[in-house]
Amino acid sequence: MKYRHAFHAGNFADVHKHVTLLALLGALARKDKGFLFVDTHAGRGCYDLASADARKGEEFRGGVERLLGVGGSDARALPEELQDYAHLVRALRNQPHARHACPGSPWLALQRLRAQDRAVLIETQQSEHVALREAMRDAVRNSAVTANHLVLECADGYARLKHWLPNVERRALVLIDPPYEDTRGDFSAAANATAEILKRLPTAVIAIWYPIKDGRDTDQWLASLPSRLPQDAAHPPQFLQSEVWIHPRDTRVGLNGSGIVIVNPPWQIAERMQHWLPALHALLDPAPARGGWRVR
Ligand SMILES: C[S@@+](CC[C@H](N)C(=O)[O-])C[C@H]1O[C@@H](n2cnc3c(N)ncnc32)[C@H](O)[C@@H]1O
Repeated sequence: MKYRHAFHAGNFADVHKHVTLLALLGALARKDKGFLFVDTHAGRGCYDLASADARKGEEFRGGVERLLGVGGSDARALPEELQDYAHLVRALRNQPHARHACPGSPWLALQRLRAQDRAVLIETQQSEHVALREAMRDAVRNSAVTANHLVLECADGYARLKHWLPNVERRALVLIDPPYEDTRGDFSAAANATAEILKRLPTAVIAIWYPIKDGRDTDQWLASLPSRLPQDAAHPPQFLQSEVWIHPRDTRVGLNGSGIVIVNPPWQIAERMQHWLPALHALLDPAPARGGWRVR
């Protein structure tokens, strides 16, 4: 595998994904009962934006840095979800040796999980898994999650779902965030994994991140998704789609946009998203805007 997320850490797609993830974690935490968070493609947990990899394309300048650059009354006027993410990035950067750090999904999750919750973070590349282990050792000290509620595996995240689900809590949030080096392969694998999760835990909340390289391909995949999932009359799955794009959806720039489909979205998340997504789009795609956003 050639994929290194460090090239893309903190870019507009990461911001879109991580703001959504924090909102989902917050929504699940509204109930006292604990839940399991599974990150099937965890990455290294925390990224150094001063590293040679990150500085190659400087993608973070169009993402996290743009958000952090908003100050004063403009910052206070941002939707609370964007403020929450910015606040956590600043808190991370206030820690020793972290001036240029950018959090990944595992680090952010650890800030929001509670003592009654558990996390399983799966990463297949040995080097990334080792870095994740190190990042989580520090992060867990400042987290409400107890060390014995945190499992890190160097494995195939899709294959491990069978081991972790269904879980004793019967409440789960699964983030599926593959690299899409093989775009069609990961589209298909993510759909199969979603089917497997729902078979095991029909009420699981599942967030699948996907790239918008050609909007026609993603629209086609999304349209086919419901028919690929188990048909459970007692728990017919609901879908919420969140997309933001900064180039027209079919240009050949590589990554035109970022999408997330949430299966079984928590209560009121769609309403909140209608509020924060246009604000995020305006920030990531300043005038004259070339892209757009969509919640449906
Ligand atoms: C997009 S990155 C993950 C970023 C992370 N979720 C975040 O938001 O900070 C995808 C990661 O998946 C890893 N990966 C690729 N195939 C995998 C698999 N089958 N199982 C687990 N991890 C995998 C890659 O090594 C890479 O670190």
